[in-house]
Amino acid sequence: MKTRIITLLALVTFLSAPIKAQTPIYLDDSQPIEARVKDALNRMTLEEKVALCHAQSKFSSAGVPRLGIPELWMSDGPHGVRQEIQWNSWGSAGWANDSCTAFPALTCLAATWDPEMSAIYGKAIGEEARYRKKDVILGPGVNIYRTPLNGRNFEYMGEDPYLASIMVVPYIQEVQKNGVAACVKHYALNNQELWRGHINVELSDRALHEIYLPAFKASVLKGGTWSIMGAYNKYKDVHCCHNDLLLNKILKEDWAFDGCVITDWGGAHNTREAALNGLDIEMGSYTNGLTSESEFTYNDYYLAHPYLKGLKDGTFPMSTIDDKASRILRMIFRTVMDRNRPWGAFTSEAHYDAARTIAEEGIVLLKNAPVTKKAPALLPIDASQYNKILVVGENATRSLTKGGGSSELKVKKEVSPLEALQAMYGDKIIHAQGYESGRPMYSNTDKIPAEVVESLRNEAIEKAKEADLIIYIGGLNKNHLQDCEAADRITYGLPFGQDELIKDILSVNPNMVMVLMSGNAVEMPWVKQVPAIIQGWYPGSEAGNAIANVLSGKVNPSGKLPFSFPVKLTDNGAHAFDALSYPGDSIKQVYKEDILVGYRWHDTKKIPALYPFGHGLSYTTFAYGKATLSAKTMDSNGKVEVVIPVTNTGTREGKEVIQLYIGDEKCSVIRPAKELKHFSKISLKPGETKEVKFTISVDDLKFYDDSRGEWTAEPGKFNVYIGASSTDIRSILSFVLQ
Ligand code: GLC
Repeated sequence: MKTRIITLLALVTFLSAPIKAQTPIYLDDSQPIEARVKDALNRMTLEEKVALCHAQSKFSSAGVPRLGIPELWMSDGPHGVRQEIQWNSWGSAGWANDSCTAFPALTCLAATWDPEMSAIYGKAIGEEARYRKKDVILGPGVNIYRTPLNGRNFEYMGEDPYLASIMVVPYIQEVQKNGVAACVKHYALNNQELWRGHINVELSDRALHEIYLPAFKASVLKGGTWSIMGAYNKYKDVHCCHNDLLLNKILKEDWAFDGCVITDWGGAHNTREAALNGLDIEMGSYTNGLTSESEFTYNDYYLAHPYLKGLKDGTFPMSTIDDKASRILRMIFRTVMDRNRPWGAFTSEAHYDAARTIAEEGIVLLKNAPVTKKAPALLPIDASQYNKILVVGENATRSLTKGGGSSELKVKKEVSPLEALQAMYGDKIIHAQGYESGRPMYSNTDKIPAEVVESLRNEAIEKAKEADLIIYIGGLNKNHLQDCEAADRITYGLPFGQDELIKDILSVNPNMVMVLMSGNAVEMPWVKQVPAIIQGWYPGSEAGNAIANVLSGKVNPSGKLPFSFPVKLTDNGAHAFDALSYPGDSIKQVYKEDILVGYRWHDTKKIPALYPFGHGLSYTTFAYGKATLSAKTMDSNGKVEVVIPVTNTGTREGKEVIQLYIGDEKCSVIRPAKELKHFSKISLKPGETKEVKFTISVDDLKFYDDSRGEWTAEPGKFNVYIGASSTDIRSILSFVLQ
C-alpha cells in the first residue's frame, strides 16, 4: 500500500512540474553551427528550402518565417554601404538615414601595399554594413587589371595576383568579425565590362591558375570568405554563375569552400545548370544588373518554382537542395542569427579617419622633378613661396563618390580638393573649373557645347597667367565610358579636352602640380612638361583632406602603383594582339597575352612602361644596402632567408615598400621575367636603418603545370630581385633549387 502511495505522489509531482521547453538546437547559440544547420534543415519543408535559394526582393533573400529564421539582406558595395534601394527596382528608396562614409576605391587600398590598411578598411566598412543591418556586403572585388580600358578597374586591386591575394584577406576577415558576410567578386574572368553578360573567355589553364584565380583562392583559404559572387561572363561556354568546373570542382571541392555562391544580378540563365553546377542563391534575374527591371515575379526565378518542380519530379537530386540550403543556413547562422555580433557604427569620426588614412597611404607620387635646373621640386608645396595658387580642373570640385555603377554611394560628407586647399591656403587660392564633363548627358567633349568648352578654357588660361603655382586636378570620373560599370573606356587618353587644356595652361605657366583622379592608367602626352604628378585615385569622403595633406607635405606620400601605366595602349599585353584579345568578337575573347599580364608583359617583352608596377616616390630618399641570402641552394622543403638593410637618407620620415620578385632563369615553359612574391612596407626616420627580412619557400618558385594540373618548380637557378618598384631593382641575388 505504502509503495503505491509513494509512486502516486511521485507521479503527481512529475506531472505538475512545469516541463522545461527544450530550446531547438538551431535556435541555440551555444550549439555548434553545423548542428544548428542540420537541425534547421530537418525541420524545413522542400518549399522552404527552395525559397532560400532565390531573391524575394532586389537585395534580399527569404528566411523561414515559420521557424523564426530571418531573411538575408545584402547591399553593395566594395567602397561603402549603398543607399537603400527599392523593393523591386533599381531606384533609391529615398531614406533619410542611409548616407554613409565613402572609403577610397580599392585600387587606392591596393596602392597602400599595406595589409594593415586593408584590416582598417574591412573593420570600418563592416561596421557600417552592420549598422545598416546588412548581412552581406557585396565586395571586395579582385578581378585582375588586364586592360586600362576596363570600366571597373577602380573597384579592384590591380594587375598582380600576389598583391591582390595579400591585400584582400584582412578586408574579408575584419568585415566578417562584424557578423557581416563578405562577398568576393566577380568569380571569375570578369576583366572588362563590354559584353560582360555573355562573353566567353578563353585562356590557358596556366593563366587561369597563375593570374586570375589566386586572389579568389586566397579569399577562401586565407580570408575565409562566407560568400562569393559569380561573374556574368562565360568560361568554357558556360555562365560563371553556374559553372561546374569553377564552382563545384575548383571552388567547392579543391578549395573546400563552405559558403554561398551568389549570382551577380541577372547572372543566372537556366534552371538545370543553376540546380546542378554549384549556384546557391539566385539574385536579380531578368535584369541587366544595372538599369532594366525584372518582369517576372520572384517565383519565376530559375531556382524558384522551376527548380521545385524538378526536385519533385526527380529531375534534380534532393542532395542538391540540401547542399544549397545548408550553405545558406550556415551563412544565416554566421550573420543575422549570431546574437553575439557587434552593433556596428555609421559615419563615425573613426570611419572618416580610416578613410583619410587609407587615402593618404595610397596616394602615389609619380613625378616630382625641379621645374628648372635651379628651381627646387614643386612638392611639397611651400605656401610661403606663393601669392596666388590656381586650382583648376573639374575634379577639384566634382563629387566622385556618385556614379560608377553599383559601387555608387550617397555620402554624408565628401570634402573636395578645392575645399581642403582653400582651408589650408586661404585666399592664396583662386579657382577655375577648366573643363566640363557633364553627367550623364555628356560622355566626351563633342557633346559639350563649343562655347562652354571655350569659355572654361579661356578662364583657366587667364587665371593661370596671374598665378605663381598651378594645381591641376583632373583625370577620369564616374561617367559612362569612364570609370564606370557596364561599359569600358573608348580611349586611353584623358577625356573632355583635358590634354589640350593642360598644354594651353603649361604654355602660359610651367609651374604645374597635377593630381589625377582615376581608377585606371591614362595616356600622358604632356608628361615631360609637367614637373609634378600625383595619382590621387578616388579617395572617398575625405578626398580633399588626403590630397591637401600630401600636397602640403603634412603627409609624406608612400603609395606604390598596383598596375602599370603603359606609354601607349598597344604597349599593354591585352592590346598587343588583335580584337579577339580585346574586346573580343562579342561572342568570345581570347587572352592572348596569357600569363604575361601587366608588368609581366612589359618586363618580358622589354617594353618600358611610363610608370611601372610598384612605382611610387617619396619626399625623402631611401638607400638599399647589400642584400644577403642565407644559402646558395634550396632543397624542395627548404627555405632561403633574404635580408636587406634599408636606410632613410633624406631629411624627413617616410615609408618605403620593399618588393621581392622571383625570376626562373631557365624553365621548360615560358615564365615572366620576374613575379612579385613578397613585399614589406616600413617606416623610417631620417637616418634610420632597418633590416627587412623575407623567407622564400619553394611555393614562391612554382608555376602551374597545366599538363599535370598541379603546381611545380623545376630545379635550377632562381634570381631574387629586390626593388623599390618592378623596374627600380636595387639588388639581384640568386640561388639554386636542387
Ligand atoms: C551589378 C554588379 C555587382 C553588384 C550587383 C548588385 O551588376 O556587377 O558588382 O554587386 O549588380 O548591384
